[in-house]
Amino acid sequence: MPTVHVNLGPRSYDIEIGNGNLAEAAKFCDAEADDAHAVVITDSNVDGLYTETVTDPLADLGCEVDILVIEAGEQSKSSDVAAELWERMLDEGADRKSVVVALGGGVVGDLAGFVAATFGRGLRFVQIPTTLLAQVDSSVGGKVGINLPGGKNMVGAFWQPRGVLIDVDVLQSLPDREYRAGLAEVVKYGVIQDADFFAYLEANIEPVNDREPSVLTRIVERCCRLKADVVEQDEREETGLRSILNYGHTFCHAFEAATGYEQLLHGEGVAIGMMCAARLSERLGRVDAAFVERQRVLLEAFRLPLDVPDVDRDELIELMYRDKKVERGKLRFVLPTRMGHVELVRDVATDDIVASLHG
Ligand SMILES: NC(=O)c1ccc[n+]([C@@H]2O[C@H](COP(=O)([O-])OP(=O)(O)OC[C@H]3O[C@@H](n4cnc5c(N)ncnc54)[C@H](O)[C@@H]3O)[C@@H](O)[C@H]2O)c1
Ligand SMILES: [Zn+2]
Repeated sequence: MPTVHVNLGPRSYDIEIGNGNLAEAAKFCDAEADDAHAVVITDSNVDGLYTETVTDPLADLGCEVDILVIEAGEQSKSSDVAAELWERMLDEGADRKSVVVALGGGVVGDLAGFVAATFGRGLRFVQIPTTLLAQVDSSVGGKVGINLPGGKNMVGAFWQPRGVLIDVDVLQSLPDREYRAGLAEVVKYGVIQDADFFAYLEANIEPVNDREPSVLTRIVERCCRLKADVVEQDEREETGLRSILNYGHTFCHAFEAATGYEQLLHGEGVAIGMMCAARLSERLGRVDAAFVERQRVLLEAFRLPLDVPDVDRDELIELMYRDKKVERGKLRFVLPTRMGHVELVRDVATDDIVASLHG
């Protein structure tokens, strides 16, 4: 079974990737210890599908298991729901020895991770991501948090899991749009870090679209390794390296905010944002038109949307200036210079940004 080791000194951990390995959470949970206690946090969609497969083997080993189910959806990443979970955990007798298990997509991972980081000043935490986005992105790297009404991911922590268990078989039940949205982040890794991986995706469009388990395993493993490489060098987003993961995201965040976070899935916004960033890079003479076209063809093969949503251009620009990535009033963009390599570019003129919105 492929394992990706994330090397963070005392906070190091393994990501185990397979197909049909969902029942193997015990190894990350100390399930055989005398006073083993796992608090499994999942959402209302995932609960009926996969909870028992995870919890039955834990219970068989004598581990006390509590299952806390939140309503599916981004609105659950709130301080209200976090407070409910803290209260429930207190009622269930959770203490420093308990392990929090996040079983679900990025919403569950971010929220459960935040609750784990804060309850009792920090509990051990295991990720079992069930969306493609969570398997290749949100479950790796230790960023956990919740939203405020005025801002996404505004309250949170860096809290590394003690392990990540990935079963690509669970992706078979993922709705089509959610699956494709995850593929946008997959393509992103190819563009920013790994030209060979990008070529691998180009050569495997059909098996990717068919969710072929062996191809999924390979993709998830590669993406986890690539993200781990970045996180290992810049765990807390201090050196700027981690910002390469934000390729396409300055545009994406503006699209998400302008459309009220309802019209677009995050990955869809990333796909459109990557097209804008590629065009911007072309305008600035960093890549040629063939690069932009190559990226477009792959995103289109994965049936991702590529057109900028129909919102006021001035509003989009204003939203970009309000984004977290603004440094002393200057917009910064992660832009490709060739396949598999990006650079952080400062001082981009507003006219160029506006021009890059058009296909
Ligand atoms: N921490 C990080 O580094 C990081 C990185 C990227 C994104 N995020 C966060 O991740 C969140 C988005 O995550 P997401 O895209 O996984 O969304 P999500 O958790 O809302 O899951 C998407 C939908 O799929 C359902 N679902 C999950 N697994 C399923 C399965 N196997 N079969 C059927 N349905 C399933 C969910 O119930 C939900 O309805 C956002 O809140 C974002 O901020 C965090
Ligand atoms: Zn993203």
